[in-house]
Amino acid sequence: MILVTGATGHVGGELTTRLVRSGRPVRALVRNGAEPPAGAEAAVGDLDHPESLRPALDGVRAVFLLPGYADMPGLLGECARAGVEHVVLLSSIAAPDGDMDNAISRFMILSEEAVRASGLPWTILRPSGFMSNTFQWTAQLAAGDVVRAAFPTVAVAMIDPYDIAAVAARVLLDPDHHGRAHALSGPEPLLPVDRVRVLGEVLGRPLRFEGLTDEEAREEMEAGGTPTAYVDAFFRYYADGTLDDSRVRPTVTELLGRPPRTFTQWARAHANAFQEER
Ligand SMILES: NC(=O)c1ccc[n+]([C@@H]2O[C@H](COP(=O)([O-])OP(=O)(O)OC[C@H]3O[C@@H](n4cnc5c(N)ncnc54)[C@H](OP(=O)(O)O)[C@@H]3O)[C@@H](O)[C@H]2O)c1
Repeated sequence: MILVTGATGHVGGELTTRLVRSGRPVRALVRNGAEPPAGAEAAVGDLDHPESLRPALDGVRAVFLLPGYADMPGLLGECARAGVEHVVLLSSIAAPDGDMDNAISRFMILSEEAVRASGLPWTILRPSGFMSNTFQWTAQLAAGDVVRAAFPTVAVAMIDPYDIAAVAARVLLDPDHHGRAHALSGPEPLLPVDRVRVLGEVLGRPLRFEGLTDEEAREEMEAGGTPTAYVDAFFRYYADGTLDDSRVRPTVTELLGRPPRTFTQWARAHANAFQEER
């Protein structure tokens, strides 16, 4: 049995669906009342309360684990107690910067440390920024044809969560990947204006991009509920330039035997989400 955490989210949802389709036994961790992806067995648990995962971990051989929860060592302890044989941790390309003063890097670094210290066989996935971050534009796209976004000059080799899930499914329970960290990216660096152009083509709309100034970006992020420590973290990465997330890596192709999906493919797969809002 494989336990997928974050099963209602972008990566965990893709992974659960993929494992169901391939006929592998999969259990989806959900919070109370949430529906798992079709065909998956659901188990209720809260990642901020490790003991709540005991029923979900019963009989589990491998776990796909999200980072950044209150007690990562406690979560790993519950995995060990249940006899789990492999943990695949979703981390970030930012983790290797070692910057403990950056709130996002910090929770990734601490999560990786907890996995390494757990004594369990592990594999760490370090993806670039997700193409699904584009859903942040849904409300603007429902309101009109102008997309305003932060950090207009920062290119990111964005990856489709579909590919992160495909890599996770590939490495889960494969001892060849024990003790390895895989840095993953999409196929090309994209500026926000590039994503707007592709979305316009796919949706058949005359979309236009406007970059936010740093002051406007900070205001919008804080008004949107992003905690100040995370706003600071994004400014450190993208305004101070501590993170280069534009680098294209060969890993997805090497691990899957095919190139990573393009942003056009992502946009076509999710076009309904933007059209339904109008
Ligand atoms: N976005 C990026 O560019 C990026 C880049 C690198 C790494 N990451 C990391 O990747 C992770 C996963 O991203 P994603 O886009 O797949 O996430 P997502 O779509 O935001 O989904 C988060 C998932 O975690 C679940 N969850 C949240 N708190 C929980 C809790 N206390 N107990 C149990 N489940 C809980 C949510 O369940 P509910 O449905 O109940 O809320 C949901 O299934 C992120 O959290 C981030 O740390 C993101």
